Amino acid sequence: DLGGGRRRDGLNFKPVAPNTEDRIVTPEGYESAVVIRWGDPVLPGAPKFDFDRQTPAAQAKQFGYNNDFCGLVPLNHWNRWLMVSNHEYTTEEFLFKNWDAANPTREQTEIAWAAHGLSVVLVERDHRSGKLVPKVDRTYNRRITVTSEFKVTGPAAGSQFLKTSADPTGTKVFGTLNNCAGGVTPWGTILSGEENFNQYFANAGAVTDPKVKERLTRYGLAGAATTRKWERFDKRFDVAQEPNEVNRFGWVVEIDPLDPNSTPVKHTALGRFKHEGANVIIARDGRVVAYMGDDERFDYMYKFVSDERYKPGNSRYAREHNKKLLDKGTLYVAKFTGDSPAEEFDGSGKLPSDGEFDGSGKWIPLAAGNKSFVEGFTAEEVYVFTRLAADKAGATKMDRPEDVEPNPRNRRIYAALTNNTDRGKAGKEGATEINPRVNNKHGHVLEVEERRGDNTALTFSWKLLLVCGDPTSADTYFGGYDKTQVSPISCPDNVAFDSHGNLWISTDGNALKSNDGLFAVPVEGRYRGRVKQFLTVPKGAETCGPVVEDDFVLVSVQHPGEIDGASANNPLSHWPDGGTSQPRPAVVVAWKKDKGRICG
Ligand code: FEO
Ligand code: CA
Ligand code: CA
Ligand code: CA
Repeated sequence: DLGGGRRRDGLNFKPVAPNTEDRIVTPEGYESAVVIRWGDPVLPGAPKFDFDRQTPAAQAKQFGYNNDFCGLVPLNHWNRWLMVSNHEYTTEEFLFKNWDAANPTREQTEIAWAAHGLSVVLVERDHRSGKLVPKVDRTYNRRITVTSEFKVTGPAAGSQFLKTSADPTGTKVFGTLNNCAGGVTPWGTILSGEENFNQYFANAGAVTDPKVKERLTRYGLAGAATTRKWERFDKRFDVAQEPNEVNRFGWVVEIDPLDPNSTPVKHTALGRFKHEGANVIIARDGRVVAYMGDDERFDYMYKFVSDERYKPGNSRYAREHNKKLLDKGTLYVAKFTGDSPAEEFDGSGKLPSDGEFDGSGKWIPLAAGNKSFVEGFTAEEVYVFTRLAADKAGATKMDRPEDVEPNPRNRRIYAALTNNTDRGKAGKEGATEINPRVNNKHGHVLEVEERRGDNTALTFSWKLLLVCGDPTSADTYFGGYDKTQVSPISCPDNVAFDSHGNLWISTDGNALKSNDGLFAVPVEGRYRGRVKQFLTVPKGAETCGPVVEDDFVLVSVQHPGEIDGASANNPLSHWPDGGTSQPRPAVVVAWKKDKGRICG
């Protein structure tokens, strides 16, 4: 303690108790407000949101649906930022009353296309009220949707696997899909992960070529019609008609909000999988390292190390150089080894006899430029069918890696392994030291320390920081901290860091039957592992995209009211507009009433 009860980590708020309320709950002494909601204006001329009379043209100028990642890029002004939000997916029964799943109309489909993608919105802090206020800015505001143009860059640009009848060059793609998490780069751009892209592509089940079928199946493509049936309105979503279009999704995309006329890119050097997101740190030698998770049960963690070095500064020259750093380098996948005897892991989650879930590991190179390190795979096959190359390389099967993010204060990497209820099932891998529970409903949080703190290193040590769940349950672990003094936490998804280096974790799918929320936990010193809940989101919502600034916190409230039996005809949440309104995904800001530091 630093005296007066103030602690070095600055986390002095009183934790929010678990609840099932249909509102945002913050600690005593804190307030919150909506920044922007689905349907609010982004571009000039956007009509006022009208749920019952929505159109594709209106949606294309309005904030999209189901915002997940949120990132702030500072503008040259002390209280203004460009806020970039991912719009991950649509759930049509919440967008349209009387949704007829068998017969979607073209108009409904085009609304859904416009509700996907990203929004760039200029936001300004009002220091009198504490709120963050969105502006309909003519220069910077931008919507990117399923029909926006992207350029493919990196070693697989122009690959035979990316060519289609509409794009024989294999370099120009329309749209981005299922953008989940992401990161702000040190050069002020946004990375965004294309995650469950498979759900948009129909008729993969009809493919007969065994090699093509193996690849499609490994990416979860095996079906006939899709739920949304976009294939009826654009044949590129039909694998039987346009077999390579699906290979043009599943990438990390980069967008430069400071250059509103720039064409966003898809980075093939970072591999193709169900990208949760990507987060970059500048290694001590100036090369940049991107950490990434493939969010699927038993899938992998990756990193990319650039060949070239970061150029500091905001000159056009430096920024254009830095925007190419993720095109040339080496892609690696992680292999973890525990240091305790394998027989100590019976799947119950009890601590091993040495008192820690810990061990060592290595980064296995997959490809660098045109060189493949994986037997039987060309470099282009490694990039486009990364999951199969990583299988061959012997990577460690993880419990759904969501955010994998470097902590700028200690250079360690924190990974949210959200859950994996298939671990230990018949025919599936059982418990290991790094994934120590079978039927893992609550997930865990991993801490990785690269050798000598060098983010380009090929080896590392690791520990589990948290094994999540009910702290009174024997199968949970809170960094060794007193479990009677922590908040329950379940299904970690996104992570962020405050300026003290504390870890902030947002959750998705709380299996403890209360609402999802945002939590803070010190990773150093005597309070390491002391998890405290900072806020909860309305019922049915997922908490994502946390941004932790010194004097405010942003969270994305995704899919409020997504509860069994709910639909636009039967809304079970009325957040944020109240009354009998439809629920609307939104970005929320929380701050301290006295305008003090969040961690002070
Ligand atoms: Fe879209 Fe992995 O969560
Ligand atoms: Ca151990
Ligand atoms: Ca996620
Ligand atoms: Ca999730």
